[in-house]
Amino acid sequence: MTNTADHNSKVFIETVGCQMNMLDSELVIAALRQQGYEVTSNVKDADTVLFNTCSVREHAEHKIYSALGRLKYSRRQRPNQVIGVMGCMAQKDQSLIFERAPHVDLIVGTGQLAEIPRLIAEVRSTRDPQLAVSLGRREGNRETVSSSFQSYDPLRDPEMRPSPYQAFVRIVIGCDKFCTYCVVPSTRGPEQSRSPTEIAHEVKVLAGQGVKEVTLLGQTVNSYKHTEDGRLYELADLLELIHDTDGIERIKFVTNYPRDMSTRLLQAVRDLPKVCRYLHVPAQSGCDEQLKLMKRGYTVADYDEMMQRINEIVPGCAVSSDFIVGFCRESEASFQMSMDLIRKYRFKNSFIFKYSERPGTKADSLYDDDIPEDVKRRRNNEMLELQNSISEEDNADFIGRTVEVLVEGPSRSAQKAAERGDANNELAEQLVGRTDCDRIVVFDGNPRLAGSMARISVHDCTATTLLGSIVTREFQHGTSELLPVLG
Ligand code: SAH
Ligand code: SF4
Ligand code: F3S
Repeated sequence: MTNTADHNSKVFIETVGCQMNMLDSELVIAALRQQGYEVTSNVKDADTVLFNTCSVREHAEHKIYSALGRLKYSRRQRPNQVIGVMGCMAQKDQSLIFERAPHVDLIVGTGQLAEIPRLIAEVRSTRDPQLAVSLGRREGNRETVSSSFQSYDPLRDPEMRPSPYQAFVRIVIGCDKFCTYCVVPSTRGPEQSRSPTEIAHEVKVLAGQGVKEVTLLGQTVNSYKHTEDGRLYELADLLELIHDTDGIERIKFVTNYPRDMSTRLLQAVRDLPKVCRYLHVPAQSGCDEQLKLMKRGYTVADYDEMMQRINEIVPGCAVSSDFIVGFCRESEASFQMSMDLIRKYRFKNSFIFKYSERPGTKADSLYDDDIPEDVKRRRNNEMLELQNSISEEDNADFIGRTVEVLVEGPSRSAQKAAERGDANNELAEQLVGRTDCDRIVVFDGNPRLAGSMARISVHDCTATTLLGSIVTREFQHGTSELLPVLG
């Protein structure tokens, strides 16, 4: 390990956005630590401050610009400090960030993450601002634009993973769907699938380091396609390829695109026991006119056909969704159609977003953002309320049953109690785990159980969580048969 950072540099990172960003931050921090950087959770101690950013909604960008604003003064006091903006907003806003926040030293897009350690060193030695971004989607042919977005997937140092038992593995970068509201195709570039051999190797290395659960990542993960040695690999083939990796107990993949949910993939979910019976397949809307304006590429009938196939091929599979409310021209009737879709499919959970107009998208140039903010807010609240009541009712079905979970570690409340130094707090021993169908389960237990499978008898629930207690070994024989889990 070479120490190229000067005098014990301390780095602070704030990450917003999706799992892809969480993985990017993990990898960038690992690279910096290998160079001698220490991570600090206190921005005041840091001589390198990084923001890993998201542009999917305006709110996410505001958050970062405000955080940058707060650093203006601290930067004046610490002229040696390096402030960097990386990720989707860096790619989208580029040098505009220097204009809006002149104290920023470094702007690095999603396709240049490997260069961050070198660029920080460059700023430190020259004090010249650095900008490294990829080409825009129309700034070259597909090949040139694609190669300007480099996937960043170095092998990881085991001590540097946030969880020893769980890991994200990138399989697809970028997106080619161009939904009219969405910035991702420009912030992450053209869709590119990684080599199956590389992915399988990465999974094997992770398993060797103690990882039990891998989550394969892609904006449209089920669009995965890669030809290697004359053979075409789709997601179903990739799942087969990695399934028998020793040590891996669970495999998940997010996010799915409805139109690419092939029967072969569903059969793989059914036939491969380590693959979780959980699919995140955002519907976005229950109204055909809206889906058309969004250019989602499917109708409500297509989504329905897909849901039927999921239920037939993988009975008991949990499905979750995303919805946008208040998209351009969404009438009250259109909104009610989305509500009906939620009532019909009883999603395990849904992420609900108020439409946020994004510069540079088709929706921004073609349609008016014509739904008033208070209407968006009301629809958002109504939909949340409906989804929560469904989630709570479905979770209540688990009361009195036993579920099997992969123990992830201390619950959030336990972590907070530990941070406060409150070891005697009754929450200190609270653990969290997830079922095969992605349901969150909270129970008391020894933190050493993290990374193992446990049976939990469920005695209460909320809309988001099952609450229970560990079934002790003596009772395990009688109750060990996992009851069929409802979707
Ligand atoms: N690739 C995934 C998710 C991408 S972003 C997919 O296609 O489903 C995550 C979610 O953010 C989307 O599913 C969508 O519901 C929401 N979203 C994207 N752009 C948005 C916008 N401009 N305003 C509000 N929500 C948006
Ligand atoms: Fe955005 Fe649509 Fe691509 Fe998802 S599929 S990332 S919503 S363009
Ligand atoms: Fe946001 Fe970029 Fe992810 S825009 S949702 S961080 S791909």
